[in-house]
Amino acid sequence: MSKKILVVVASTRPGRLGPAVADWFVRATAGTAAARGVDVEIADLAEVGLPFLDEPEHPSTGIYLHEHTKAWSRLVGSADALVFVTSEYNYSMPATLKNAFDYLSSEWAWKPCLFIGYGNTSAGTRGVQMARSVAATMRMLSIGGDIFLRIAEAFIDGKVIETERLAARAQEALSELDHVADVLRPLYRAEEEIMPAATTDVAELLVLQRCCWVDEALANDRLDLPALQESEHEVQEALRDWTTWVVRKSGRLVGSVRAKRVGDSWHIGRLMVAPDQRHGGLGRRLLAYAESQAPAGISEFTLFTGERSERNIAFYQKAGYALSSDEVPPGAVGLSKPL
Ligand SMILES: Cc1cc2nc3c(=O)[nH]c(=O)nc-3n(C[C@H](O)[C@H](O)[C@H](O)COP(=O)(O)O)c2cc1C
Repeated sequence: MSKKILVVVASTRPGRLGPAVADWFVRATAGTAAARGVDVEIADLAEVGLPFLDEPEHPSTGIYLHEHTKAWSRLVGSADALVFVTSEYNYSMPATLKNAFDYLSSEWAWKPCLFIGYGNTSAGTRGVQMARSVAATMRMLSIGGDIFLRIAEAFIDGKVIETERLAARAQEALSELDHVADVLRPLYRAEEEIMPAATTDVAELLVLQRCCWVDEALANDRLDLPALQESEHEVQEALRDWTTWVVRKSGRLVGSVRAKRVGDSWHIGRLMVAPDQRHGGLGRRLLAYAESQAPAGISEFTLFTGERSERNIAFYQKAGYALSSDEVPPGAVGLSKPL
């Protein structure tokens, strides 16, 4: 699971401009999104296909009867931030957007959002003002820096006129959305949910890995362990090469694991749990989660640990791993498990 920014296209009428605006935003921010490890996904309300609100229960109950509501809930629930691409209809947002807001409740809460408005005389500003007040009611955080496009000036042949200045505004907005989402995540993700690591986690990851690898240093009687020696910068760099996940408890980072593909094996590493959180199954959960994230085409899980780390070896053997003859760093043993 990576971080996700959902771009909601509000208008649904035939011949609408909305999809062209969303496509431009996704194109303009592709490099920034990739660099920040964010997936940008479009939710076109014409395809989402919600009827006028037809759920009997209030959305705050989270009790949904209809499959269309459950699917919309999953989609919005999976988002870390929202971008609303909205036209202005009669000085307001399109009814389709208000309806899409009304369907859900907690799925929106505490997530940052950005508006991209477009229209004639007002460039969509009045529609966005109304949508923003609804978003605030749903506990979303409008980050500002909204983008407004006056149709007569910003479009040609039904497409956004792409300028560097406009692209830079979109990229800046995406970075800000992602940054605010990183900070707000403890508010909108369930306690102890396994989440992709963010750059804002680096300092705590460094502290946790040093703490955990002291035990390794003692068990193996050596200090030259990378996890013990790495700098903050090196931990940050590793976030690029590895997919890393973290778990927080009451806001505190208490566990992490990472994995990457090496040939046809899924190599798992840096499984760590804060000392006071051990023996509660968190290590097993993290390991199972890392395994579940293996991409297609993987034939085995591999990892290594200190050759004298008896507790670790027993833990991995219990999880189905066997000692292997894989090449590993000096002083370590390799373990593997077929997929
Ligand atoms: C029902 C309707 C109401 C509109 N009201 C406004 C308006 O209040 N202000 C405005 O600037 N443009 C208004 N327009 C023009 C729209 O901004 C323009 O048609 C735009 O392309 C609509 O977005 P869409 O193409 O994604 O549907 C309206 C258009 C429609 C269809």
